[in-house]
Amino acid sequence: MAFLNENYLKLRAGYLFPEIGRRVTAFCNSNPEAAKRLIRCGIGDVTEPLPDSVRSAMHAAIDEMGRRESFRGYGPEQGYEFLRHAIAENDYRAHGLDVADDEIFVSDGSKCDCGNILDILGSQNRIAVMDPVYPVYVDTNVMAGHTGQADDSGAFSGLLYLPCTESNGFVADVPAEKADVVYLCFPNNPTGSVATRAQLEAWVAYALKHRSLLLFDAAYEAYIHDPAIPHSIYEIPGARECAIEFRSFSKNGGFTGTRCAFTVVPKSLMATTSTGEQLPLHPLWNRRMSTKFNGVSYVVQKGAEALYSAQGKQEVRALIEHYMGNAAVLREAALAAGLKVWGGTNAPYLWVKTPAQTTSWQMFDRMLQEANVVITPGSGFGSAGEGYFRISAFNSRANVEEVGRRIQAIRW
Ligand code: MLT
Repeated sequence: MAFLNENYLKLRAGYLFPEIGRRVTAFCNSNPEAAKRLIRCGIGDVTEPLPDSVRSAMHAAIDEMGRRESFRGYGPEQGYEFLRHAIAENDYRAHGLDVADDEIFVSDGSKCDCGNILDILGSQNRIAVMDPVYPVYVDTNVMAGHTGQADDSGAFSGLLYLPCTESNGFVADVPAEKADVVYLCFPNNPTGSVATRAQLEAWVAYALKHRSLLLFDAAYEAYIHDPAIPHSIYEIPGARECAIEFRSFSKNGGFTGTRCAFTVVPKSLMATTSTGEQLPLHPLWNRRMSTKFNGVSYVVQKGAEALYSAQGKQEVRALIEHYMGNAAVLREAALAAGLKVWGGTNAPYLWVKTPAQTTSWQMFDRMLQEANVVITPGSGFGSAGEGYFRISAFNSRANVEEVGRRIQAIRW
């Protein structure tokens, strides 16, 4: 007899985005005419083609794979040295941040790494998440058995939820109580908020005081426009002793379908055994990756490396400008429609308040039926997201302009 992991049974609804997909498919099947006008601003999936520099590098890599003398089989599980070096050099050392090549672990996605990191952490940790929150942080802890059941609002017992509200600018305050592991995501998905240097300093001070671990998801760092906002947690002194950083090529290089990301695990980062001994996490993550992962394909890593070439950097800038131009169009339209809007200035997401007496899912239905636009209901990200919805700026300019017109045509 095989027993299943009953923790999965605690996850009442499906993962948010497949659930939205299911509802949209049902709507389209029963409204074929409306389906033709449908514009998706729900999931944050890129729409613009892969940059030329990436495609050229991948074509060349494919050709290498087609010749006996340059063919490659298994690569290093941690990533090829050429990519680890390019990342450490360009994303960190060029900004004065002390990150070694071998502290970079290349992977197939930040979502995967944010879940997989639990493999090397103990089950006795008290976990803190922001609310609203990127659902992966919560769901992977539920799957790992780190929580009890969910209550009626969808909040799981055992997790410490840190409310992100209008009054704190959607950046959670450091709590009075102790958490062992804290997930931070800046620029934030879903609210589009960013943390100031002072706010990140407070989090690092908290983590050092409590010997907590910060899991810093910086997948959207390329969207930061304000020069005063840190791009990396390692810009804060002491972070090498308390933080792991997740980054991705999905949203800057258009790699959501191509798959490449990386995680930074400083060698100076320690965690505690049940007997109170302090040991480094780096060898554990190295062991985990060597055992459960065979690396990202050579061709994809060559594509990712090209993002650091002069041409690649210019192409990334153009992609960010495109999506942030979209965000500006959406922001203006929502404001002109009289809605209250946050985000969209340092992040590709807009966080919008629903009109009075309208829940997030009612708003989802209204936008789907009246505007034929897919958005993401705020409550799907946690109970503090109720009364809000998220609009993703990942789309073509023409679609976004049309969404702007449709938002303004609705009688709010
Ligand atoms: C989102 O829409 O929140 C993103 O697509 C999530 C992700 O990148 O996994």
